Amino acid sequence: MRLSAPCHAIGWWWLFLSFLFAGRTGADDNSSQPISIFRSRPDLVSPILTVFTRIPEKQSPGYYFVSPYQQIQESVHIYDNDANLVYSGFGSAGPGISHAPQTCMYKGEVHLCFYQGTQMLGWGHGHGIIMDKHYRIVQSVEPGSYQASSDMHEFKLIEDGKSALLTQYLRSVYDLCPWNLCDGLGYIQEGAFQEVDVDSGKVVFEWRSLDHVDPSESYVDPSTTEISGTGEAPGSPWDYFHINSIDKNEDGDYLISARHVSAVYKISGVDGHVIWRLNGAKSDYHLDGFSFSSQHDARFISENKTHTVLSLFDNGSNGFNQTQPHSTGQIISLDHQTKVATFLLNLDPPFIDGHAHISKSQGNFQQLPDGNIIMGWGNDAFWTEYTSDGEIVFYGALGWRNVMNYRVHKFDNWVGLPLTKPALWTYSKAGDEMMMYVSWNGATEVKSWRLYGADSRDGPWKEIVENGPKTGFETILRHESTYTFVYAEALDKNGLVLGASAAERVFTPPVQMLEYCDDLACRFMPSDEEREQERQREAEEQRQREEEERLATQRATENRERAKKRAEMYGGAFGGLAALIILIMVLATRNFVSRPVHALVHRAYGTIRTKMGKADARAVGVGVGYKALPLEEQDGVRVPIISDPS
Ligand SMILES: *[C@@H]1O[C@H](CO)[C@@H](O)[C@H](O)[C@H]1NC(C)=O
Ligand SMILES: *[C@@H]1O[C@H](CO)[C@@H](O)[C@H](O)[C@H]1NC(C)=O
Ligand SMILES: *[C@@H]1O[C@H](CO)[C@@H](O)[C@H](O)[C@H]1NC(C)=O
Ligand SMILES: *[C@@H]1O[C@H](CO)[C@@H](O)[C@H](O)[C@H]1NC(C)=O
Repeated sequence: MRLSAPCHAIGWWWLFLSFLFAGRTGADDNSSQPISIFRSRPDLVSPILTVFTRIPEKQSPGYYFVSPYQQIQESVHIYDNDANLVYSGFGSAGPGISHAPQTCMYKGEVHLCFYQGTQMLGWGHGHGIIMDKHYRIVQSVEPGSYQASSDMHEFKLIEDGKSALLTQYLRSVYDLCPWNLCDGLGYIQEGAFQEVDVDSGKVVFEWRSLDHVDPSESYVDPSTTEISGTGEAPGSPWDYFHINSIDKNEDGDYLISARHVSAVYKISGVDGHVIWRLNGAKSDYHLDGFSFSSQHDARFISENKTHTVLSLFDNGSNGFNQTQPHSTGQIISLDHQTKVATFLLNLDPPFIDGHAHISKSQGNFQQLPDGNIIMGWGNDAFWTEYTSDGEIVFYGALGWRNVMNYRVHKFDNWVGLPLTKPALWTYSKAGDEMMMYVSWNGATEVKSWRLYGADSRDGPWKEIVENGPKTGFETILRHESTYTFVYAEALDKNGLVLGASAAERVFTPPVQMLEYCDDLACRFMPSDEEREQERQREAEEQRQREEEERLATQRATENRERAKKRAEMYGGAFGGLAALIILIMVLATRNFVSRPVHALVHRAYGTIRTKMGKADARAVGVGVGYKALPLEEQDGVRVPIISDPS
């Protein structure tokens, strides 16, 4: 497991995501890590569980237990099958990062167990935490060795809570000359685990990798990956092994997974010797037609004399040696007689446009009692629930940038009875109707809410909502009249009262605020940036308005001028045309104006024809468009227009 720098989170998976969530890039904000607004709990900003696929009738009963980090409120969170938040452990689950919350048996009761501490590049310093059903930390579990604090990769209660399994990363000087690190002290990080008696803190069993697995079996040399370590300084030991899970069987033997050697080991609970190795440089089994590498979360599923069946999360790559196109969940059967390993199940992640999760780190596989399987995609804070035959019945995410989640588990035995009171906020815009927002962080048994109103804090109280069904983390109820004070009672499935909120004064916005309020609530005050954006937007609008006005005036003036010019132009053209037509008409008809012209033309034509030797007075003029007069008309007052020019 590792903390990846934001820039490394951008792989091809993100190309797919950026397609899915087009436009959701940039800094982490509500578009890349959506968070809830709860009016009754303004202190909680929990990740919204975005659902891509859900087939409710095929989901196993129970809750999803997660602990997102690189997120605004890193902590243990519980969600129900409808993707509603049930519990946020922010603050109460302790400072620092938590990992892999799961229910566990302790002192005969169901508790909540998880790692809590700090995180380095690839390992952690912390301890195991046990919380009771009231969300109180009742025990911490510390490893008992010469280097204190446990690593984050495993914290698991076993033997009904009498003992705990936890991983440790131990640093020591080591001869790294075979890796060409010979000009000073070399440092190595070995993988270790302990079984610790929870109440006494005594170490029951301890195992260290350097006693059994030589560093030459590692596939991750010093200075080759972000988390390999350089081996050159105590602060950067070479992490040759990278233990990342521990399990224990009925016989008292252990199953561990180590990522940097790509192997799973069965360890004798008697003397710690390696009973068998699966995969890696010295596998005792031939993997028949499948492979895995850089795996996580190896668990015993079943065992008998001849076979061991186990599950694991196959990352499929160590960053430079890719053995699978994407991460998968595997159930593997080892035949101890033939020494052949076969896979019984190989679960693919959801494919979207041919792309699927290849987890850069982390991830887990959990088989539920009814056969459904949960797979957490680790580095991608997504998870999937499958039926036993591989159908995806839930696929959701806590965000798509930077946020990670080491493991996701599902359990159906969690009953949360918080010691806090239910939380209530009430609001009335105009004093007629009233909105009531009610929630109770972690309370799993609430089925409905009953509300009371009064005009004074001391009552008398009137029941205003008898039985408002709980609709999610926060239930929103409306009442048609307003009281000055309201309180809420949380009811279980039998209508019994589990707890009551304080009497809260109903909030009524003052007149000046009203324009920012609707029936549900008033808006949040804008942030400084929003105010600045608003100011700029208003200034820009003002500028645009002015510009438009200026343009409108200018356009009007131009239009007027253009109209005038057009009128002049058309006027001129029409005038000219009319004059021409009149002129033609005048010239074309015989009248006193045109006569001299006709005579002139006639004479000129006659002259030309005469000059060309074709004098024929009668024909004169025919060719030029007018009719010669009959001779009788050429006498008397009617002087022939065209006289014989000869
Ligand atoms: C974040 O976005 C979601 C919708 O994706 C919305 O429901 C929620 O109220 C937003 N949260 C905040 C804090 O704006
Ligand atoms: C042992 O387990 C394997 C794998 O689950 C199974 O096929 C086999 O029948 C089992 N053998 C006995 C003797 O139960
Ligand atoms: C898992 O695979 C991815 C993709 O190839 C790779 O970048 C990453 O380093 C691998 N993770 C581990 C833990 O080896
Ligand atoms: C790549 O991984 C496979 C499977 O674990 C292993 O057999 C092979 O030696 C590795 N190659 C390198 C170059 O690490």
